[in-house]
Amino acid sequence: MDKLVIQGGRPLKGEVGISGAKNATLPLMAAALLTDEPLVLSNVPALADIRSMAGLVGHHGARVDTTGHGLALHAQNIADTTAPYDIVRKMRASILVLGPLLARAGHARVSLPGGCAIGNRPIDLHLKGLKALGAEIELAEGYVEARANGGLEGAVVPLPFASVGATENLMMAASLTRGTTVIENAAREPEISDLAACLAAMGAGISGAGTERIEIEGRDTLSGARHRVIADRIEAGSYAVAAAITGGDLILAGAEPETMRATIAALEEAGAETSELPAGLHVRGDSATRGVDITTQPYPGFPTDMQAQLMALMALSDSASVITETIFENRFMHVSELARMGADITVTGASATIRGVRALTGAAVMATDLRASMSLVLAGLAAEGETVIHRVYHLDRGYERLEEKLRGVGADIARAKE
Ligand code: UD1
Repeated sequence: MDKLVIQGGRPLKGEVGISGAKNATLPLMAAALLTDEPLVLSNVPALADIRSMAGLVGHHGARVDTTGHGLALHAQNIADTTAPYDIVRKMRASILVLGPLLARAGHARVSLPGGCAIGNRPIDLHLKGLKALGAEIELAEGYVEARANGGLEGAVVPLPFASVGATENLMMAASLTRGTTVIENAAREPEISDLAACLAAMGAGISGAGTERIEIEGRDTLSGARHRVIADRIEAGSYAVAAAITGGDLILAGAEPETMRATIAALEEAGAETSELPAGLHVRGDSATRGVDITTQPYPGFPTDMQAQLMALMALSDSASVITETIFENRFMHVSELARMGADITVTGASATIRGVRALTGAAVMATDLRASMSLVLAGLAAEGETVIHRVYHLDRGYERLEEKLRGVGADIARAKE
């Protein structure tokens, strides 16, 4: 296993290229199972989660060809409708094959993702939605098994919570289903709009993506398509915090600021200066960071996937701030590690009170999820002395060429064997 070693205290300056969005690519790859023609994606990030998903759609029968940041997926036939435990346990997003397999093959059996480090994360909303389209669903032996013997049929599906994954699963299934489906209280994340654009290019009739009511006119068959993945707003937000926390000056080339409004507002309130570029975002840090109160919310609110990174910045603010996590339970694992670097943070229920300190000091730390790991990298970049981050594989799931990108803008960061 690898570790990252960071010598902190260098302001980051220069240009960082922002990759395509992992969380947009994963559902798009599942959507390839909806058609017997090739789906060709560009701007695909090279990440461990993408390789896991490639393995999964490959297992279901898709031919997968990767060239640089391009990915061609061709599921001429569905060879196997079971998503096995060994693949699903590595990546919860595997549940996204449920809707496409069911709609295309009339049957899907997917290992239950189970709990994970950031809370319980059930899939009841995915199942409720597919049942509304006429699926019969059984849970047995750790698997969810869905059947649609008479085919699925369009329906009105109100979601009790605007789940991103459930919205995506339903959009994909409904695209290859007789009749019209309406998803009420749909998630509005940019990744939803990106998936809708791709499904529309494949021939589905979709309107309302990006609002809370998505209407999908299903088709008997869908065609192949070419689609460019949107920029990763969480990666871009993480580098924006890197500029702010080091008092640096970064151009985030390819970032899409219109998908980052809440993050940009929080950074500005904290004292960073941002300006939009024709194809990117410019972020300049200030030596004095102000405390900002944040509550995570579904899009367009402040993203839960940026919460840990913002907390690292708040740890170095000149005042106190409160960060409240409303999306996931148990998403404060970075707190105890940030505390080991000198941060002053108290957690009460779903809220963390952060009293800014003058400086953080390097330490050996590790985290149990992707964004928590990134918050430790950010803290390490700003800390005095050496920070060693263990369990780097979390970062490899979601940040393409992390050390290379950071070194390119002046960070002292190296990967080493444990
Ligand atoms: C996606 C993102 C993840 C992000 C999250 C929220 C991907 C691959 N992952 O995850 O990075 O943090 O959105 O923005 O895109 N819930 C239920 N029942 C369900 C489904 C969800 O109770 O059937 C709950 C979850 O436990 C969680 C909340 O709803 O508390 C949000 O989950 P959801 O929006 O579904 O997130 P994911 O799609 O898993």
